[in-house]
Amino acid sequence: MSDSSTPSRQSTFKALARLLPFLKPYRRQFALAGIALLVAAGATLAIPYAFKQMIDHGFGAAGSGSIANVNATFLALFGVAAVLGVATAARFYMVSWLGERVTADIRNAVYSHVVRQSPEFFETTRSGEVLSRLTTDTTLIQSVVGTSISLALRNTLLFVGGLAMLFVTSAKLTSIILGLLVLVVVPIVLFGRRVRKLSRDSQDRIADASAMAGEILNAMPTVQAYTGEVREAQRFGSSVEQAFQTAMRRIRARSVLTMLAIVLVFGAIVFVLWLGAHAVLAGTMTGGDLGQFILYASIVSGAVGALSEVMGEAQRAAGAAERLLELLALRSSIASPLHPKPLPPRHAGGASLQLQDVGFSYPSRPDHAALSHLNLDIRPGETVAVVGPSGAGKTTLFQLLLRFYDPQSGAILLDGADIRDLDLQVLRGAIGIVPQDTVIFSADAMENIRYGRPEASDAEVIAAAKMAAAHEFIERLPQGYASYLGERGVRLSGGQRQRIAIARALLKNPPLLLLDEATSALDAESERLVQSALEAAMVGRTTLIIAHRLATVQRADRIIVMEDGRIVETGTHASLVALGGIYANLAALQFHHVHA
Ligand SMILES: Nc1ncnc2c1ncn2[C@@H]1O[C@H](COP(=O)(O)OP(=O)(O)OP(=O)(O)O)[C@@H](O)[C@H]1O
Ligand SMILES: [Mg+2]
Repeated sequence: MSDSSTPSRQSTFKALARLLPFLKPYRRQFALAGIALLVAAGATLAIPYAFKQMIDHGFGAAGSGSIANVNATFLALFGVAAVLGVATAARFYMVSWLGERVTADIRNAVYSHVVRQSPEFFETTRSGEVLSRLTTDTTLIQSVVGTSISLALRNTLLFVGGLAMLFVTSAKLTSIILGLLVLVVVPIVLFGRRVRKLSRDSQDRIADASAMAGEILNAMPTVQAYTGEVREAQRFGSSVEQAFQTAMRRIRARSVLTMLAIVLVFGAIVFVLWLGAHAVLAGTMTGGDLGQFILYASIVSGAVGALSEVMGEAQRAAGAAERLLELLALRSSIASPLHPKPLPPRHAGGASLQLQDVGFSYPSRPDHAALSHLNLDIRPGETVAVVGPSGAGKTTLFQLLLRFYDPQSGAILLDGADIRDLDLQVLRGAIGIVPQDTVIFSADAMENIRYGRPEASDAEVIAAAKMAAAHEFIERLPQGYASYLGERGVRLSGGQRQRIAIARALLKNPPLLLLDEATSALDAESERLVQSALEAAMVGRTTLIIAHRLATVQRADRIIVMEDGRIVETGTHASLVALGGIYANLAALQFHHVHA
């Protein structure tokens, strides 16, 4: 992910403005919050005036104040307070609602966008980082939408209104205050910048630490086998420590900022009050005027302080928004075409597949051809085995068939249609795969198999499990099909995991079945079981099998031998053995060994 620098003030607003589409649906709620805000600000601004009335008419001038007058003044003051209370609560409610709502929307949008990205994205982005974006960054945005916007508006209103009232109360004192304010604001702004930069750093360090922890927690057995616990704990510790140090730099800067703000602002106010006190002594101001002035001045200075804090929050959120929007702006390199073609009607016997001069290199290794000049024509219902040394490009071939990547040259046709013209869902819906690294979700056996076809009934799931020779061991699990298999299937053996994965692919009942070392972890007996089940399952569908154990592939209609991304030999077991090439060599090694 690109690491843009701290946003400037201007780009802060730009970044936050790009969140507007998320706020748009809630115009009505914003309007309500705005009304509550205006009422509350109005009430706040009315309080000092009410105070002046209270001082001048309630206590001050005993002669002019009747009891009724006093009562009315105090009642009015309480009325203002009551309005303030109701309006503030309403504002808090509306604005917090907005914050939570918008954050939930953003989280959903980012997550559902991320899960649509192509494998290339997940090769370059750590999942922990994405998680941190989804949790920490969205929380920052929540604070802006949920509090900062309303704080900013409220304090801007209070600042402008308070200032106007200050002028009305005493233009001379206010002018002096304004002069002082300039002196006060400059250092605050300068320090604010520093706080901002440190904030983004601090967020990045936290993302680093959680990405690292996520990776390590997923590899615990390996870490412990290599006795790496202490090392990993230290590595995480120093990462957390860095995050702490960065946070501390931000907090120190923020503390200085707070101190500067309070001392400077209050210093200025005290100075002006001192002038005011002299004015009262000289008889040019009433006590009530001075009281009113003091309250307005404290409202204005409070507003300035709050605005500077809000600015800091907004900067942090702008950084977060930038990163989230970066994620949202990513276009997957693999996407359905705008006007996808329908899949041509299929023969009953499975899908047909053509590779026409396919050349491909992985995006991360553009100068190394993982596949080159691949030509292949597979008839419906054919079973084709792909063999070849490790790194030959067998798995890569499957990745291209699923359109996880697009080839740089040539084309792949499924039932005669270029797979780039098909809707991704349609294409992948037609393919069942048992990947080389089986994936088990942290759910029970039933749900893990059902992943192949979420609408399948329990009976269908069990039928698929029987086909994959998985039924027997699942029945023996403590709770049978309802047994929780552990995160990533840690409660199963490797061979058991493979059989679950096979059952899942069979349940999907696809016209094209891809098996990548699907039985590699099974003992000879189980493999024979699964093999005969698979042979039954292969009837009526096209199957590609990758296998290192040649015993697995002997009965295939055709065997393709790959080396260095090319097809080097094609034929049946017998014809390839007769050819005396790479396959014959492999066969000699493996079968000699078996028979010895
Ligand atoms: N995501 C990737 N990015 C870059 N290179 C890759 C990636 N995946 C595989 N490769 C490279 O592409 C080549 C072919 O890999 P592939 O996984 O297709 O081999 P394979 O024939 O399936 O091997 P094996 O039998 O060991 O599974 C290898 O050189 C590998 O290093
Ligand atoms: Mg492979």
